[in-house]
Amino acid sequence: MMKLGQTDISIGKIAFGCWRFAGHDVSEADRLIRTALDAGMSLIDTADIYGFDEFPHLEDKGFGQAELRLGEVLAAAPSLRKQMILATKGGIDAVRPYDSSYTYLMRAVEASLERLHTDYVDLYQIHRPDLTTPMTEVARALNDMVESGKVRTIGVSNFTVPQMRALQVHLKHPLVTLQPEFSALEQTPLENGILDFAEEIGATVMAWSPLAGGKIPQTDGPVQAVLDSLAGAYGISRSTAALAFIRGFGANVLPIVGTQNPTRITESGYAAQVNFTGREIYDVVEAYRGGRMP
Ligand SMILES: NC(=O)c1ccc[n+]([C@@H]2O[C@H](COP(=O)([O-])OP(=O)(O)OC[C@H]3O[C@@H](n4cnc5c(N)ncnc54)[C@H](OP(=O)(O)O)[C@@H]3O)[C@@H](O)[C@H]2O)c1
Repeated sequence: MMKLGQTDISIGKIAFGCWRFAGHDVSEADRLIRTALDAGMSLIDTADIYGFDEFPHLEDKGFGQAELRLGEVLAAAPSLRKQMILATKGGIDAVRPYDSSYTYLMRAVEASLERLHTDYVDLYQIHRPDLTTPMTEVARALNDMVESGKVRTIGVSNFTVPQMRALQVHLKHPLVTLQPEFSALEQTPLENGILDFAEEIGATVMAWSPLAGGKIPQTDGPVQAVLDSLAGAYGISRSTAALAFIRGFGANVLPIVGTQNPTRITESGYAAQVNFTGREIYDVVEAYRGGRMP
């Protein structure tokens, strides 16, 4: 287990993501959530936009469908709610495309709670920075969400370090998570200060697309070759090695597993037990950089 940021909320070392979740029927959705919880993935990450563009016949094209599906699972089995740390996101409205105005966010969180069949979420994240809204206004919305009890903690996704600093100074409550894309094939967060900033403020880094959206298991290259040799040495799959790799840094990194295949979900949970040596981590970093560290 690990803590969510500097809170006293305990979470498993691997999380389960619902980006690809909207197409399931309720019984499949229920099975996947139980499989993830059984594999130690107590933090379930979703977003109001997940499902958008997957249902062209609907007026809203599927906005909210992944939350709705999870909400149906929770309505049928309310005890599951207490077993999970429920995280969602808002701030992409699919047209504008980003809206973090006070009015929009306060309506968005209400709509998410209704779809999810819950009175509160454990974590609410701004999905992408809205360049047109002042950070003072974004902060006011997040402060009010926490103070009204709708949201236990707050975080951001796809923000730069300066954007997080600009928001943080206006917040009365800490950012407990940052959510960048981070994988063995997308190592930018090691270089752009995101991981360092997480250490500075004690936040958890939630790594999205930790298998590069499927490219790590589905393609070959120098990074995958190093992962294969680590996988052989530890008796795990390439994908599990890729999840363990991103846990190997100074910051607290929480990979968000995206597979919707129950066998792969269970296997992904093994990554919580694998701790590569510093040399092994550098082998993957060097394969990505195409040369030895200076
Ligand atoms: N904040 C953001 O902007 C943002 C953006 C994207 C994602 N996210 C979060 O991150 C989570 C994970 O993202 P992701 O779904 O892109 O994760 P990912 O793990 O990088 O990719 C998952 C994809 O890889 C495929 N895959 C996994 N193992 C495989 C294997 N052994 N062989 C072949 N294909 C394999 C999966 O297919 P199967 O289902 O068939 O296994 C799925 O299509 C999302 O659910 C969401 O919570 C956040």
